[in-house]
Amino acid sequence: MNYPDGTPGRGSYIHTLGGGRKILIVNVMARLFMEPVLDDPFAVTEKLIAQHRLGQTVQAIFIDFHGETTSEKMAFAHVFDGRVSAVVGTHTHIPTADAQILPKGTAYQSDAGMCGDYDSVIGMKKELAIWKFTRKIPGERLAPAEGEATICGVLITTDDATGRATSIEPLRIGGRLKQQLP
Ligand SMILES: [Fe+2]
Repeated sequence: MNYPDGTPGRGSYIHTLGGGRKILIVNVMARLFMEPVLDDPFAVTEKLIAQHRLGQTVQAIFIDFHGETTSEKMAFAHVFDGRVSAVVGTHTHIPTADAQILPKGTAYQSDAGMCGDYDSVIGMKKELAIWKFTRKIPGERLAPAEGEATICGVLITTDDATGRATSIEPLRIGGRLKQQLP
């Protein structure tokens, strides 16, 4: 949502479900320790959700907040608590243990985690990633680790009438992480 106008792709999308129910799906980029630094994600999101009425024009609003720091992710979620169905963080590749429904009804987890091989450095072959940290000179280009993947995510249930979340459960299947089924 907060890339410059004219950037390929789209930052938000309304998907129509069976029975005409609609979900607004949003991807917005955080700024702390992120490259490139983009427009203010808070202001851009305010502008977008002002065009919708949760439970009326759309039955749910899901925001993927893509960023490095848990502080920026939590602050963002609290600002939109009760006005969107869910804020789930991505980018760190590591699932966090803080799935919760915020006081005004927004489902939240700081990071969903990656779908990938966890015998790695955030999904990349560990030897190549360790070289970058220890040698400080260019090495081989990073490449994905190719062991069995763990599928990570969250299962969120929302109330169509209010758009608020009624549950959020972490999901982890396969690979090295302990299985977690909703
Ligand atoms: Fe990323």
